[in-house]
Amino acid sequence: MEIIIQPEAEAATAVAARLIRRLLLEKPAAVLGLATGGTPLRLYRALVAMKLDWRRVTTFNLDEYAGLPPEHPQSYHRFMWENLFRHVNLAKKNVHLPDGLAKDIPASCAEYERRIRAAGGIDLQVLGLGTDGHIGFNEPTSSLASRTRIKTLTPRTRRDNARYFGGETGVPHHVITMGIGTILEARTCLLLAFGAKKARAVAAAVEGPVTSLHPASMLQMHPEVKVCLDEPAAARLKKADYYRWVYAHKPAWQQF
Ligand code: PGA
Repeated sequence: MEIIIQPEAEAATAVAARLIRRLLLEKPAAVLGLATGGTPLRLYRALVAMKLDWRRVTTFNLDEYAGLPPEHPQSYHRFMWENLFRHVNLAKKNVHLPDGLAKDIPASCAEYERRIRAAGGIDLQVLGLGTDGHIGFNEPTSSLASRTRIKTLTPRTRRDNARYFGGETGVPHHVITMGIGTILEARTCLLLAFGAKKARAVAAAVEGPVTSLHPASMLQMHPEVKVCLDEPAAARLKKADYYRWVYAHKPAWQQF
């Protein structure tokens, strides 16, 4: 794992945006895995401002609420169109999100996995981090080999997301999410976490034991993970000084 600690979320986001820009310049037909939530909002703004060419890019989102139609204000379809897709020259046919309204959910999840494979796999997967350690909506005790499927949110995640639904009662109980096994097949994983409320989850993901009780810890098993943090999110890392040292002494060819 490469842990990149910046003073502010803005600067940590800028590092992440540069990494994605480099990928899109090197591989104009890249396949991006995308995330929703408060964390990647700045990233999407930064990417829009970079005016990159998205014509040949394909995207797959991590997750969607089960039961929400794409036009629902809190659906992740809507989130992505509002915050990124409509601002860049991405082809609609290249956009993929799990179908929250699928009648046959297992078949729809298998088809999602098939499409990822048919696109050549995900080059770079953007990830946020739940306060309970989830990535995508893989809640604690998710199988570490899981694939795209339906999951039940924890009460804590429903509380965390209540702010978007004007209270907890409106938050769906179920979601469709890529599995941890799906996420780990991305060639690069890019985890973003900002703010003191993520500090415990970050420390457990980066320095804790690999355990299904903290799904993000499974990223330790992936060979190419970048973790972009602000100082408050990094506050509980035991080796923070070492991570800063490594970043400050990156060989020129490795810089982005
Ligand atoms: P947040 O959510 O970005 O809104 O904090 C992160 C997550 O639940 O993955």
